[in-house]
Amino acid sequence: MASTVIKNWDNKTWLSSQNYINQFNKFLVKNTKLNSESKVLDIGCGRGKIIGDLNSKLKFSFKPLGIDIVNHKDKDKRINFKKICVKDFFIKNNDKFDLIMIKQTIHLLNINDIVILFKSIQKILRPNGKILIFTLDTKKNEIPTFKKMKLKLDQSLKRDKKILKIINKFYPYMTKKKFIYKVKIRKNNYIRMLEKRFISSLLTFSKNELSEGIEEIKVNYKNIIKFNDKLICLIL
Ligand SMILES: C[S@@+](CC[C@H](N)C(=O)[O-])C[C@H]1O[C@@H](n2cnc3c(N)ncnc32)[C@H](O)[C@@H]1O
Repeated sequence: MASTVIKNWDNKTWLSSQNYINQFNKFLVKNTKLNSESKVLDIGCGRGKIIGDLNSKLKFSFKPLGIDIVNHKDKDKRINFKKICVKDFFIKNNDKFDLIMIKQTIHLLNINDIVILFKSIQKILRPNGKILIFTLDTKKNEIPTFKKMKLKLDQSLKRDKKILKIINKFYPYMTKKKFIYKVKIRKNNYIRMLEKRFISSLLTFSKNELSEGIEEIKVNYKNIIKFNDKLICLIL
């Protein structure tokens, strides 16, 4: 049976490559005022490699905290990790942070939880702290897809627009930036990512639907696939 949780997003993909993490953290540092005394929270951190690397670069006094509903065996050792869903975290947490990052996770929450999140998030931010939300660019998305996957992805991007409107209601003066990463990947490696259902749009497909989709990718894409992985970054 297909899993309902994402386990392979950052499992040996371009999203966990050192080059991606370097570029991403460069963007983070440029758009925040982080220093060694900063406290960092990553909501939906996956394996926590991004904030782990940030810790190596900025040598934080406090280990950054990552929370996620999946506790990966190979998570980053440079972070503190809590296996908890975002809703429960907000009930239990008393700490405050200088950076709260939510990267490619907001679309996985239900709308009620998103509203609860934005009602409480400001309370756990230190003075001058920043909230950065990263989500797939809803315009001209270039993620390589097969037909059924594209339909699912488009549905999800449509829902993302609704989520962006909710965030905009809470933060009408938010800043919007883009983080674009140029991906160059062998088709075989991308197919392996598809097989492992790296993205949430793939989670509900049957084995057959996935194999048919992969056949489509084999025919429609060159041996080396090049595209831009485009994220919107909301700075609140
Ligand atoms: C697409 S992955 C992104 C991982 C990481 N932020 C990155 O960009 O590399 C989404 C992550 O959100 C987590 N997640 C989903 N729902 C969650 C919830 N309610 N509370 C906490 N984490 C959640 C998933 O387990 C998954 O690790």
